This record gives sequence, C-alpha cells and structure tokens, in this order.
Amino acid sequence: MVPDTKDIFSFSSWYGDFTNVTFESRIIELSEDFLNYLNQDGIFIPPELGQPAENANENEGNGFSSDEDDEVERYEWVPEFRLAMNTALAELGGQVIPKLNWSAPKDASWILPNRQCKCTSVADVLMLLKASTFIAFDVVKLSQKTSAIRTKPELVLRKWFDINPGWEFRCFVKGNSLIGITQRYCTTYYPHIAQDPERLKIQIKEFFARKICGRFPAGDFVFDVVIQNSATSGVVLVDFNPFDRITDAILFTWDELLSVDSVADDELLRFVNSYLSIQPDEMRQYQIPADISDSRFTTHGQDLFGYLDNEIVKQTDSKN
Ligand SMILES: Nc1ncnc2c1ncn2[C@@H]1O[C@H](COP(=O)(O)OP(=O)(O)OP(=O)(O)O)[C@@H](O)[C@H]1O
Ligand SMILES: [Mg+2]
Repeated sequence: MVPDTKDIFSFSSWYGDFTNVTFESRIIELSEDFLNYLNQDGIFIPPELGQPAENANENEGNGFSSDEDDEVERYEWVPEFRLAMNTALAELGGQVIPKLNWSAPKDASWILPNRQCKCTSVADVLMLLKASTFIAFDVVKLSQKTSAIRTKPELVLRKWFDINPGWEFRCFVKGNSLIGITQRYCTTYYPHIAQDPERLKIQIKEFFARKICGRFPAGDFVFDVVIQNSATSGVVLVDFNPFDRITDAILFTWDELLSVDSVADDELLRFVNSYLSIQPDEMRQYQIPADISDSRFTTHGQDLFGYLDNEIVKQTDSKN
C-alpha cells in the first residue's frame, strides 16, 4: 500500500543497503508515458510486446485486446522498455515477480495461467500490473503532480523463488526495538510454527540484530521476512513497510502496537495456533468469479468471452 511522503520505503531507497539479505532484483526507471499507459483503462498490451508467455501459442482470443484495437496507437516507450525488461529477465534467470515503488500486484495473480505473480515474459508483467488495484494505488500516488513524494516511478523485477507462505513473517520495530512478529498469511494453520515457535523467534531476532537494526534510516518501521530453509537460519528480507496503520498489522492491532514500547519475550510472536483460529483470506475479494476462472466454462461450445461478445452483439442489434 502507498505511504504518504514515505520515500524511504520506496524499493530503490533501501535495496542498495540490503542487497546481501534480500532477493536479487533489478530496478527499471519508468517514463511518464509508461505511467500514462498504466493509468489508461482496460487491460491491453502493445502488440510489439506480445502475449503472456503461457498463452503465446494460442490463437484464440483471451478477452484482452492486443492488436486490432490498438493498431492506431503507437507506444514510444516500448523499444527501450522491452530491452530493459528482457535484459533484467535474463539476468534474473527468466522468472520474476514484479512490483512498483511500494506494492506488488498480489491481487491480480488470478490473471496469469499459473495463478501466481510469477512472470516469464514482458507481457506477463504488463498483464499483472494492468489488472492490479494495488498497483493502481501506486500509480495514482506517483502521478500526483502536487504530491510531496519525490520518488521517481520504478518497476522492480525480483528473482522468483518458490516461497512457502507458512514461512513468511511480518516484524514490527518501534524505537529500533522489535516489538512484534506475526505469521504473514493467516488463512492456514501451519503445524511447523506451533512445533517450535522459540526457534523461529530466535532466528528472526538474530536476523534483526545482525542485519537490520540500525541500518534502516528510521527507528519505527515494519519489515517482512521469509525463512527459506528451516534447517538453516536462512532468513531473507522481503520488504520494508511504514510503521503506520496503512500497513496490515495482521495478528496484532495498531492500537496495541502504538501503545507499547517493548514487549516481554513470550508475547513477541503471534501465529495461528489451531485450525479453529484460521483468519479469512483478505485476497478473496480480488479474485475472479469461479465461472470465469473455470476453463471448463462453456456455453453452447463457446468460451465465456466468446459468449459474452456474441451477447453484446445480439443486444446491440436488438436495440437498433
Ligand atoms: N522473490 C520472490 N519470489 C516469489 N515470491 C515473492 C518474492 N518476493 C515476494 N514474493 C511474494 O509476494 C508477496 C508480496 O510481496 P511484497 O511484500 O514485496 O508485496 P507488498 O505489495 O509490499 O505487500 P504488502 O502490501 O503486504 O506490504 C510476499 O508475501 C511473497 O509471498
Ligand atoms: Mg510491502
């Protein structure tokens, strides 16, 4: 989510100081024309940038315009952008997750065939960015001419890793003290957390003390980590977020976090400790209706988008 005037949380502000503890990434500066393209309604991809990777061989329409509709419009930013993207994709091993200055398009993962934010082509990245409401928040903020934010618009590509969400944690820091750690995704009970919460706590506390504390240019902040290999202390930094209600406090509340300056060690870590404590999935509201996402959906042999196109033609004809 977008912090007001919090330039220090924009990706390029912190990446340089933490490259050895976070995923390898590339930053591509964005032109105003590209921001305008993101601001335009509709999910469309300039024809020169092709189809999303896994649809590349399909001739049938997928409901997103890519050629005829846009033929008249030429996108000046395309050649430079394509070169920068393809170079970054190749350097990062061909699989990436994109984000803008502050947000990843987590809400749009339904639009790619793999139902993840894993992108293997320029078109995959553009589909995610165009379909995401979270990205739209960043774009609005970056486009505001009067905004106090001095940050330049940037697209970040991060090397993709298959992450088990059960090993992701959000950590709250106030006055340079760690005052809370919570399981990041609370839609599932993960027995491995309940089995050894002490060990997890030690791993994260050590990581904070050695790699984070005193190195971020603020005393109050939130950072996200993933423990990549439970057998080692492979804690990896995912992101920094403002210590502010704009950041999801997950199993804490902001009233609690704002009212304490330190916590007892046995109150530091919160996690879902039984199947009964599972929380609703906050991403559900962004998901596509089951009928649409179900590739088996057919109406008299047509796919859904073909069916809807015909219905529109029929209704327009009947009105004339
Ligand atoms: N390199 C990566 N490889 C695979 N998945 C990743 C990678 N980096 C992040 N993710 C996944 O994407 C999720 C969101 O990433 P990130 O925290 O950067 O987004 P965000 O928009 O800042 O989220 P929030 O709004 O919650 O702060 C992570 O929780 C993780 O599951
Ligand atoms: Mg974040």
